[in-house]
Amino acid sequence: MKRVLSGIQPSGQLTLGNYIGALRNFVKLQNEHQCYFMIVDLHAVTVPQEPAALKEQTESVAALYMACGIDPAKASVFLQSTVKEHAELGWLLTTLTYIGELERMTQFKDKSAGKESVGAGLFTYPSLMAADILLYNADLVPVGEDQKQHLELTRDLAARFNHRYGDTFTIPEPFIPEVGARIMSLDDASKKMSKSNPNPGSFIAMLDEPSVIRKKLSRAVTDSGREVKFDPKNKPEVSNLMGIYSQCADMTVAEVEARYEGQGYGAFKKDLAEVVVAALEPIQQRYREIRESGELYDVLRKGAAEASELAGETIKQVKERMGFVLL
Ligand code: TYM
Repeated sequence: MKRVLSGIQPSGQLTLGNYIGALRNFVKLQNEHQCYFMIVDLHAVTVPQEPAALKEQTESVAALYMACGIDPAKASVFLQSTVKEHAELGWLLTTLTYIGELERMTQFKDKSAGKESVGAGLFTYPSLMAADILLYNADLVPVGEDQKQHLELTRDLAARFNHRYGDTFTIPEPFIPEVGARIMSLDDASKKMSKSNPNPGSFIAMLDEPSVIRKKLSRAVTDSGREVKFDPKNKPEVSNLMGIYSQCADMTVAEVEARYEGQGYGAFKKDLAEVVVAALEPIQQRYREIRESGELYDVLRKGAAEASELAGETIKQVKERMGFVLL
């Protein structure tokens, strides 16, 4: 049994990209491993958040975790800000991180591009993410492709700490799905699908109504060809849609290709919408039940207590090794 940790930011509506790239795999991993799944609210505030919206989105993401099938009896579900060791280890690891390393992070470059004033938290974001993972000595971190670079930095920081202060941290491995690790925008297949895209037609939100999902997918950009063929290099738009289909229908892309041989994009896109609706509708139904049940805070309190136990042990060991006086 391995230890698994991951997190999602409550900085907007979750998309089909978050679901396919990450959340779906959380659910699969919880049956075989000891899992910790967070809502990373401390990361969300690295860009300005309206307080009422942050609160609502935090609760919404927690409810979506459970609606997707994360079972609080099997996995610890908690809010990052409720386990204070995240901020504490985050600071300690920031002191071990080089400015050059942070400057090389593509997420930082993307998020700060063209901005006049950039918050320092956005810059040191990866050290906090490393703390999230190392606090639990996680072996596996299920994430989409865009987090790979942050994982590499986490591995470097763990090794640096171990080298300087003695063997302390497990070096974690990313767990990145083969298909669906990078779901692209519906209007531009060169950009990843993102909740922060100002064009809502570019992404499917997990809580989009079926009619909205159908409309967005019918308008999804394709190419001037006809063949439903998986060829990411030459047919990035159609290949992206095929990836979504394969993940939502639990089929391989080869099976999707075979099913639509000789058929045009129209039939494929129509079916795709139904496949996505069928995957999301039961989740949306459970989501509404969970929000109404009022059980969310109890689940999050239990998760925080479980996480704090392990996090407390790690931080104590870290501080001892670094030479802090423990009273
Ligand atoms: P975030 O909140 O941007 O995204 C959450 C997860 O969804 C994946 N993802 C995608 N996968 C495929 N296609 C897409 N278009 C797509 N968009 C997002 C992300 O790769 C991620 O796995 N830094 C992290 C949050 C974090 C974290 C952690 C993750 C903080 N601490 C510790 C793992 C472990 C982030 O911003 O994810």
